[in-house]
Amino acid sequence: MNNQNQPLPILGGMTANEFLKNYWHKKPLLIKNAIPSFNGLLTPEELAGLACEDEVQSRIVEEIKGKWHASHGPFNEDDFVNLPETPDPKHRWTLLVQSVNHHLHEASELLSRFNFIPHARLDDLMVSYAPDGGGVGPHFDSYDVFLLQGQGKRLWRISDQTDLTLVEGAPLRILKSFDTTQEWLVEAGDLLYLPPHLAHWGIAVSDGDVDCMTYSIGFRAPKVQELATEFLGYMQDTLNKEGNALPGIYQDADLTLQAHPAEISHSMITKVADILKRIQWSDQHVADFLGTYLSEPKPDIIFDPNKKISLQKFSERLIQNGICLDLKSQMLFTEHYFYLNGESITTSTESASLMKTLADYRKISAREIQACGGIDTSLISKLYEWYMAGYLYFDKT
Ligand code: SIN
Ligand code: CO
Repeated sequence: MNNQNQPLPILGGMTANEFLKNYWHKKPLLIKNAIPSFNGLLTPEELAGLACEDEVQSRIVEEIKGKWHASHGPFNEDDFVNLPETPDPKHRWTLLVQSVNHHLHEASELLSRFNFIPHARLDDLMVSYAPDGGGVGPHFDSYDVFLLQGQGKRLWRISDQTDLTLVEGAPLRILKSFDTTQEWLVEAGDLLYLPPHLAHWGIAVSDGDVDCMTYSIGFRAPKVQELATEFLGYMQDTLNKEGNALPGIYQDADLTLQAHPAEISHSMITKVADILKRIQWSDQHVADFLGTYLSEPKPDIIFDPNKKISLQKFSERLIQNGICLDLKSQMLFTEHYFYLNGESITTSTESASLMKTLADYRKISAREIQACGGIDTSLISKLYEWYMAGYLYFDKT
């Protein structure tokens, strides 16, 4: 559980509450040496390797003679051949790889340092590589983001400009103009927090022959329109579930002759408006919608099912080894339900604390299971189903 009064080294000794009150979603903050020994989690070659894998989302952004180009992965070795290795002011480029936390344990562990922000807001860890001068240009994001510098350096410029007009027809979002308000040259381990819609521009600066790699921990701020339309979809599914259907048929025993048979009468509109008012929802519906929607894997995510074992064998191993969430799994909970990858369950009060630990820290150890007096059989069956689907795995350590 998060401790309210604990100064956090990653926030330069500030408590999470101080950060949330004064900076989160409000104004930028630079924390020098937020993670003292941090120099990155993977090499440029390993990042390029990830960008060549089918299930990994990646982009190469190039600025050639002032014109922006973007291409999407998966890439192959030939795609990197024409990119200049040494700085060329006429041809700058960067490689960006999304959701590195789905592929690298260390990346998932890095995200746990940001546990002072709810998991429901987390999007992913994106890693970029750029030779000197490279970057994605001046832009703004609709995300809260922590930009952690890995190897090399980056010159960050931010602007308090209100003109957020974008270059028309560019393959990525580039601001038409950029007036620098403040700039910092960040080094390995430095962390820059930026709230959504703040204009910024990161320019890679090589340190000798060490090129710049930046780790972006992005927190999604869903659009109100998206929440509304997704919620209506959820309500549609809910109404279609057995027992939830609205009873009755449209009734017009009071129908009178209309002058125009093709006209939809005022009376019909009022009757239907009254019917629609019967679609009601409670906070529990909203909670269930959020748990389902926010834990739902993105469409491109595929889980690898685990090798089949019997429920008995699973139960023994669970108690012996504990269990972990797969790197791609997202687990959240509300007062009454737990949500894993869009599926919900309730548990007994005794097992609830174990499930909260699994959701908060992505694993439960054998010791924690024993301390809890074991796990009830209905929960074991559900965990077994999730294990078979590849949502969970046994810790090998
Ligand atoms: C980057 O190029 O790593 C930074 C991306 C950003 O500015 O959001
Ligand atoms: Co950005």
